[in-house]
Amino acid sequence: IGQQPVEVLGHRYPRDDFTNVTPKILAKVGRNLHNQPYHPLWLIKERIKAHFYSNYYGPGGNPLFSVHDNLSPVVTVEQNFDSLLIPPDHSSRKRGDNYYLNRKTMLRAHTSAHQAELVRSGLDAFLLAGDVYRRDEIDASHYPVFHQMEGVRLFSNHQLFSKVHNGEDLSLFERGGRRTPQKQETHSLEAVKLVEFDLKQTLTRLVAYLFGADVEVRWVDCYFPFTHPSFELEVRFQGNWMEVLGCGVMEQELLNSVGAQNKLGWAFGLGLERLAMVLYSIPDIRLFWSEDERFLKQFRVQDIHQPVSFQALSKYPPLHNDISFWLPDTKDSQDGSESFTENDFYELVRSIGGDLVEKVTLIDEFTHPKTGRRSRCYRVVYRHMERTLTQEEVGLVHQQIERMAEAELGVQGRY
Ligand code: PHE
Repeated sequence: IGQQPVEVLGHRYPRDDFTNVTPKILAKVGRNLHNQPYHPLWLIKERIKAHFYSNYYGPGGNPLFSVHDNLSPVVTVEQNFDSLLIPPDHSSRKRGDNYYLNRKTMLRAHTSAHQAELVRSGLDAFLLAGDVYRRDEIDASHYPVFHQMEGVRLFSNHQLFSKVHNGEDLSLFERGGRRTPQKQETHSLEAVKLVEFDLKQTLTRLVAYLFGADVEVRWVDCYFPFTHPSFELEVRFQGNWMEVLGCGVMEQELLNSVGAQNKLGWAFGLGLERLAMVLYSIPDIRLFWSEDERFLKQFRVQDIHQPVSFQALSKYPPLHNDISFWLPDTKDSQDGSESFTENDFYELVRSIGGDLVEKVTLIDEFTHPKTGRRSRCYRVVYRHMERTLTQEEVGLVHQQIERMAEAELGVQGRY
């Protein structure tokens, strides 16, 4: 059975030593929540589309941005990483953080995986929505499948400088320049500043349209291998700053490699769940997968611009169970690498506990003074979205997690 190919969306992919996608995850591929009419993620996607359609047009009065929401989440490793200049040894490629079908193919970890192919196909301005997959921690705002919307806009010399007085004397590029915190080596500072201004203005307007004019936002400098300079936009929500998108001026090397060497561009990628959680006060990311009418019917508005006042489903009480184990001895692994990775454990909890698991936290770590063995204790919080759980049923799930942790992760239970 282990040698059966992985089957996704009607295609078969041979397994190899990189394969780590699980049946629970594969079952989500094709759900396309962002394309289900009146699903909250669809609603946000539609509102963003409507905003771009009505505010940005091409020379003939046509919508400037084309919209793509049906690209397969199965991509090559080259699309997800190499096409974005992510170095071969970059930590974001880790098996522990991604879902690989095999060494060559994976479930996309971000919608940026499609930037290069869409620019290569000749598009100058596009939006792209889709499901993305990442192995990650478990809590109310993280889920291994979520949705992003990517935006890209390119500018020719004429498009960028036409509004500037005597702009025809300016140029996008300069020779012999240096990379600084503000710009890439080949870009002129005046061009970058205009692109950055347009990017920030576009996103500030989008956020004001979605949240209302008095939403508090801030820009934070950050780093992505495929943009420079790069920024994150944070929105204030219930007293905390919440990151909703990453963006920046596209790396020229990327544009050059796909035939857009005479243009500059910006790109952004925003998290649809994050936006929806803030906008509709949705308390838990698992709710997006709910088929409960009490949740879904609240988003069936007459008009997509109409505000939704979300009534949180009453939260049923949580139940927690702890699990402690000794980690496998590092001395035992051939290459001295860590043989236990936290995401393997989270994955195992998810694959057994499914959506009953709300949160997993490390609550204690301990090294035995004599033997040097390391032990960890995790707390697993169980909560059902639609009913109260009993310790009997949770106990069964929890014991299965204990057994499988021993069988699959090489840990030794202290149960
Ligand atoms: N792909 C990045 C992420 O998922 C976001 C991003 C998109 C950043 C486009 C810059 C440009 O975090």
